[in-house]
Amino acid sequence: MMPNKLNSNKIPLLLTVVITVITAVTATGDYVRPPPRKTLHFPWDSKLSSQPQQVHISLAGDKHIRVTWTTSDSSSPSLVEYGTSPGEYTYRGHGDTTSYSYLLYNSGTIHHTVIGPLDHNTVYYYRCGGQGPELSFKTPPSELPVTFAVAGDLGQTGWTKSTLDHIDLCEYDLHLLPGDLSYADYIQSRWDTWGNLVQPLASARPWMVTQGNHEKENIPFFKDGFESFNARWKMPYEESGSTSNLYYSFEVAGAHVVMLGSYTDYDENSDQYNWLKADLSSVDREKTPWLLALFHVPWYNSNNAHQGEGDKMMEAMEPLLYAAGVDIVFAGHVHAYERTKRVYNGKSDPCGAVHVTIGDGGNKEGLQSKYKDPSPEWSVFREASFGHGELKLVNSTHAFWSWHRNDDDEPVRSDEVWITSLTSSQCVAKEREEARETFWLP
Ligand SMILES: *[C@@H]1O[C@H](CO)[C@@H](O)[C@H](O)[C@H]1NC(C)=O
Repeated sequence: MMPNKLNSNKIPLLLTVVITVITAVTATGDYVRPPPRKTLHFPWDSKLSSQPQQVHISLAGDKHIRVTWTTSDSSSPSLVEYGTSPGEYTYRGHGDTTSYSYLLYNSGTIHHTVIGPLDHNTVYYYRCGGQGPELSFKTPPSELPVTFAVAGDLGQTGWTKSTLDHIDLCEYDLHLLPGDLSYADYIQSRWDTWGNLVQPLASARPWMVTQGNHEKENIPFFKDGFESFNARWKMPYEESGSTSNLYYSFEVAGAHVVMLGSYTDYDENSDQYNWLKADLSSVDREKTPWLLALFHVPWYNSNNAHQGEGDKMMEAMEPLLYAAGVDIVFAGHVHAYERTKRVYNGKSDPCGAVHVTIGDGGNKEGLQSKYKDPSPEWSVFREASFGHGELKLVNSTHAFWSWHRNDDDEPVRSDEVWITSLTSSQCVAKEREEARETFWLP
């Protein structure tokens, strides 16, 4: 079921970056940490086909959704037919295509079609390319409550499958992915197998993603980074005034969500920084009382893995997020789970954000089980297990966060907390005052 025309197993192994993390299997309490599972294997099919594959959807501005899929037949139309009853396609949308080559690999034709305006909280039935199976998705609600599923560093192993199965059991409106999607790691056909692995979920709810180090896939003097990621996972950056697919924002129900790039420039003179400043200054907390941020490399991390890697970005951007009153930050990268108190500038602060590291989707590198001892004062909960999170923004003041560990393939709720919004505190009013002086006045 892969649309590329060359067997990429022929790509020299020396181009494969294999990071082997030997995970110490440790146990706290009576829970025994599971070892990593093997990468899943997928049947090889090189037939030229206009059958849509790797279908996923993402938000594309108010009341619009971008449908993305791949065909190996380049003449297949970028047509999405859709409607609110099965088999009755009242509406049509046309889009455009892209493709890329990577060494010996040629991608299939990647179709991006924006459809809408769509009603909120409504199930739509659709098919791609004028043929193929009928799929369906549900649009998010227009108002709170809204529920996000969250899991980063997914990859494509037996644990990934287990995580996806658990997410599928929960009632949620969209998926947030703080980087490290396929773990293709230069072997491009793995982007195709991953696209098919996540299709059942990603074609049914919007998947909003940002990039991690495994998306970079650059080759010095030859290939810039993120070529596959940008071609396949187009996010609403144009819709949110950004010039790069590597950082953007979107709004859903009562939340404004900024998706940032840990591997693109973030210093005060960078495009990303200036875009973020403008984006945050436009947030209306009456309309979107919740402000969330996602990026790959955590700023608050007490795991031994990846210590200090987020420091430079934190130094540049944390004052902006603090000034704007960001409520919750999600990061990945570390293959474990950690939740902090509200923090700012390296210590707990009632007006700072809650930081959650959730890079435990189930990739082939396994868990990172060693933590700094003693635990920093800001760290509330940390555990090296695979799993996923669910964030329900209940109303403008209360959100319920839970983390579900993959325990013998059963989802077990291991951490849960009510989070009250900064809009319900004095922080936002006060901070926005300071913010105007510090950042948003010329
Ligand atoms: C928001 O939800 C919380 C938790 O369910 C509840 O205690 C609170 O009263 C709600 N606030 C409003 C304004 O409805």
